[in-house]
Amino acid sequence: MPAVTDIKDLRRMHRRRVPRMFYDYADSGSWTEQTYRENTEDFREIRLRQRVAVDMRDRSTATTLVGEEVAMPVALAPVGLTGMQSADGEIKAARAAERFGVPFTLSTMSICSIEDVAAHTERPFWFQLYTMKDEDYVRRLIQRAKAAGCSTLVITLDLQILGQRHKDLKNGLSAPPKLTPATLLNLATKWGWGIEMLSTRRRQFGNIIGHVEGVSDPASLMSWTNEQFDPALDWGKIKAIRDQWDGPVILKGILDPEDAKAALNVGADAIVVSNHGGRQLDGALSSIRALPAILDAVGDRIEVHVDSGVRSGQDILKAVALGAKGVWVGRAWVYGLGAMGQAGVTKALEILHKELDTSMALCGRRRVEELDRDVLLVPRDFE
Ligand code: FNR
Repeated sequence: MPAVTDIKDLRRMHRRRVPRMFYDYADSGSWTEQTYRENTEDFREIRLRQRVAVDMRDRSTATTLVGEEVAMPVALAPVGLTGMQSADGEIKAARAAERFGVPFTLSTMSICSIEDVAAHTERPFWFQLYTMKDEDYVRRLIQRAKAAGCSTLVITLDLQILGQRHKDLKNGLSAPPKLTPATLLNLATKWGWGIEMLSTRRRQFGNIIGHVEGVSDPASLMSWTNEQFDPALDWGKIKAIRDQWDGPVILKGILDPEDAKAALNVGADAIVVSNHGGRQLDGALSSIRALPAILDAVGDRIEVHVDSGVRSGQDILKAVALGAKGVWVGRAWVYGLGAMGQAGVTKALEILHKELDTSMALCGRRRVEELDRDVLLVPRDFE
């Protein structure tokens, strides 16, 4: 096996191993993919200040996120359908995260259920909620997350309606894949993946199954999403959901300072500056570019996290030095999962950690708390 040295290696392996419709589902953005591209490109606009002759012994990347101790300022972002990238993918990712010492966030749209993930892990994980029209169902989902011992509730706000991803439509994305001549041809070349899938216990859509008639046919997931998600979501409803949860609540999908201020008013403990990895509003600002104005608006009153486009430890360093308390990664861990299962998620975390640790040292910083704007060279027109 070739040496895996960066996240791009895992992406290549993921692409080779997993049927095209699932690789494309993970790897693409909405419409022209402008925001998707700029999420990664904009990180490169920021440069790091190299410093020398600073004692670099006794370094640590450890910190806290919403009160939890973590090995580095990173959380695994919620990603739907990960059980199709690797059998029982959500369980594998949660186990890799807990062993590494970073939070794992289980998506509402997971293949494995909340209970399954809880049964196969030791540390509490975070649960991500999509808000649906059926308030009773949302209440039950929250109860299940509580009963499973989840420590933090993440409410995603930027997907009340689905941004169109051309590749998913063209590939006829469904889980499990519908058998057409094209998918059969593709599956025939991905036999390793196929054998693994056949060997798993089926836990299709463990969190949403049984909710409504028809969801047991996962092929209808896209229309189900559009039918079930609540287009009437407003800050009053968000507050009502927040009040059902005793622990920390994180609001994910904030890209505007005004929305960040509103998040304060509903009692959120943290926000994630995010454009959903460039999968929703194409043409929106990259998250890293949106971050400074949001920090200016609310940074002293709430934990501000960020995601979208993070592919390296250097990216993590830049986000933290700009002022983010936490940095979430989505595709970086999903590539690892698709490439090598649990070992691949661990590999992704190891790569990110090593890059972060080494880059901190070369910037003359030994602690996450020492990372500030002095470490950065930010172009004047960046914000
Ligand atoms: C996501 N994301 C996401 N977010 C969420 O709140 N619930 C979900 O179910 C999903 N599903 C999902 C599927 C796939 C394939 C991707 C790539 C992303 C968004 C995710 O949590 C995160 O915001 C982005 O992935 C961050 O961007 P990067 O790190 O992937 O560039």
